[in-house]
Amino acid sequence: MRVVIENYDWALASGLGLEPDTFVRFCDRGPHLVASTFVELRKVCEPGTVIAGVHYDLNFVSGHAGGAIPGLYGETPDGRWLAIDPPENCVAVQPAWQLWYLTAGRIPRVRHMVIFDERNRDRLQQAKRQCLGFPRTQLQYFSHGWTENVLQPLSPFRNAESEKQFPPQWVGEFVLDRLEEINLLKTRPLQRPLPDNF
Ligand SMILES: [Fe+2]
Repeated sequence: MRVVIENYDWALASGLGLEPDTFVRFCDRGPHLVASTFVELRKVCEPGTVIAGVHYDLNFVSGHAGGAIPGLYGETPDGRWLAIDPPENCVAVQPAWQLWYLTAGRIPRVRHMVIFDERNRDRLQQAKRQCLGFPRTQLQYFSHGWTENVLQPLSPFRNAESEKQFPPQWVGEFVLDRLEEINLLKTRPLQRPLPDNF
């Protein structure tokens, strides 16, 4: 999965006219995460039930492995929700918060959610009849910028307006801010400001 994401980073940087390794360098040594999300759908039952609420990912780019039971939805820029169903052996790549920040919004961060998809109804009934479980698992890879890098718009995206909207900050501090906003940070380590001459 890491290779897929790094290939995406190379292609995207080239497409934006940046040095091809711009994003790979930004994420070098980052605290990347591989995580499998799991839900037992027999406990959810009702189509439309929200399993993971609408959110942005706070990392750089997320990869969703293909072949999972339907349920992942992403929002388009014009506000429609699309089912994201990458086939087996494929990866859906989703731009997240840090990429959006580096490009001052040129690459949108994508809101997404997981719901009990209507398309699962028949398979759920079948699992119930056979007294089987009906788990949904999806392997995900979350690439992160290195904690000690500075998050700010890259030079092609920097102007008076973007400097105001996207002020420079340490990646590590940015992540702690986001975790604090959603009450996932019990104790805030001492905040570390950027040097005065930055
Ligand atoms: Fe997410």
